[in-house]
Amino acid sequence: MIQDGQDPNARLAPRREMLDYAVSGLAALLGLGALYPVARLLAPLPGPTVRSVSLGPVSAFAAGSARSALFGSRPIVAIRAADGSFRAFGAECTHLGCIVHYVPARDRLECACHGGRFGADGRVLAGPPRRPLESLRIDVVDGEVMVGRA
Ligand code: FES
Repeated sequence: MIQDGQDPNARLAPRREMLDYAVSGLAALLGLGALYPVARLLAPLPGPTVRSVSLGPVSAFAAGSARSALFGSRPIVAIRAADGSFRAFGAECTHLGCIVHYVPARDRLECACHGGRFGADGRVLAGPPRRPLESLRIDVVDGEVMVGRA
């Protein structure tokens, strides 16, 4: 009931405010619903957690050579030194992420992008990289060379 001197729209104000909140909430839900497929598309694919990767039998890994492989989705490089010992590293250059390659004649890993040079122990020898290559664990299990996280 409207009394004398009372604004008839004053009674409707709380309803309008509630309707504004409802419309805003619905629009927010629709917006989130539209973003969900985009977020799923951009999210990394769930994959099995890789604990180790085989580089084949020791007998097929010559001294003074290297092998490249993928550890999950990451490139790695393993080196068998002249004395028969093994070392393994993440093959992504610590400068800007190009892939490094082992050069047996110089016994070092080189990055072709900006001239980064790493020793066979992964430490920086020259070029713009400031950090050594990521060192990985390498074991011989039942005659097979296995690389895993250090
Ligand atoms: S990315 Fe390797 S030196 Fe720049």
